Amino acid sequence: KRRLRVALLGAGSVGSQVAALLREHADELAERSGAELELAGIAVRNPDAPRNAELPRELMTTDAETLIVGSDIVIEVMGGLEPARSYVLQAINSGADIVTANKAMLATHGAEIFDAADQVGASVSYEAAVAAAIPIIRPLRDSLAGDRVNRIMGIVNGTTNYILDRMDREGADFGEVLADAQRLGYAEADPTADVEAYDAAQKAAILASLAFHTTVPLEAVHREGITGITKGMMDAARHAGYVIKLLAVCERLADRADGEAVSVRVYPALVPREHPLASVHGVNNAVFVEAAAAGNLMFYGAGAGGLQTASAVLGDVVSAARRHIAGGVGVGESARAHLPVVAIGEI
Ligand code: HSE
Repeated sequence: KRRLRVALLGAGSVGSQVAALLREHADELAERSGAELELAGIAVRNPDAPRNAELPRELMTTDAETLIVGSDIVIEVMGGLEPARSYVLQAINSGADIVTANKAMLATHGAEIFDAADQVGASVSYEAAVAAAIPIIRPLRDSLAGDRVNRIMGIVNGTTNYILDRMDREGADFGEVLADAQRLGYAEADPTADVEAYDAAQKAAILASLAFHTTVPLEAVHREGITGITKGMMDAARHAGYVIKLLAVCERLADRADGEAVSVRVYPALVPREHPLASVHGVNNAVFVEAAAAGNLMFYGAGAGGLQTASAVLGDVVSAARRHIAGGVGVGESARAHLPVVAIGEI
């Protein structure tokens, strides 16, 4: 069997699970991908930091650039913009296929990264960047490629859904449930990214870019977080038959005088109790897709968590390995139409 060299960049809550699963399930993964996946090294900032999973010390390195050289698949789960972007571009240019969970990097530098990948025929897979284990990137990119998506409404942040759900069901206080979400490991390192909806806005930009075959810049996403939501608002919404959810709404605006455009917004919305999104509880996410021919589809499941996100990463690794062996060509994400994005809030 062929042997592919896999480099892992990052060993936080996702990376440590990816490393553990790659080693534990090595035989099965080799069977499914047609190649032995050799974990060549794990690039970290501090090799002695405490980890969620037992990782062999001898695989750890602080020298990501050397680790990338000669790798067939580079898994980037460090998060943040730099040095993640530079490492990914280095890996693409040295012939690797990329698997990443980095929504901030893709929402900010996606166009540059996809262009670079297309130029050399590399693939960039990122199922784990949005809604953890829930398959939503492939459905939008592949399964619905022959259809026309008109609207997406998503609960794409587990932390805020957990907080709002407990405020709704238990009459709990914002501050106390945020502390629980952090303790359970759902929140980002800085919970501002969750509660002020930066995380959800990045995911919305990624989903809208895929769904509408365009590039949605992060600055064009209208963003409003949940820090202003009070118990009183939750009660009033409940009495009126609604629940407040942080929604990412990505919409095709078809009937404008000057042609089609796209609107993307993230805000605490009133969702009617009978809508399927109203029954998404706890840390779960759901993405409701309205497509012209397919009708309404809903993708649902755990939207955060190291192990769940690692599941999506490994699915992409298997696909990248199969593709690598088959000598496939790039997925062509940079070859997109350019629909204008309308930077507005409510419509
Ligand atoms: N902090 C994120 C969330 C993790 O709560 O959804 C997954 O991106």
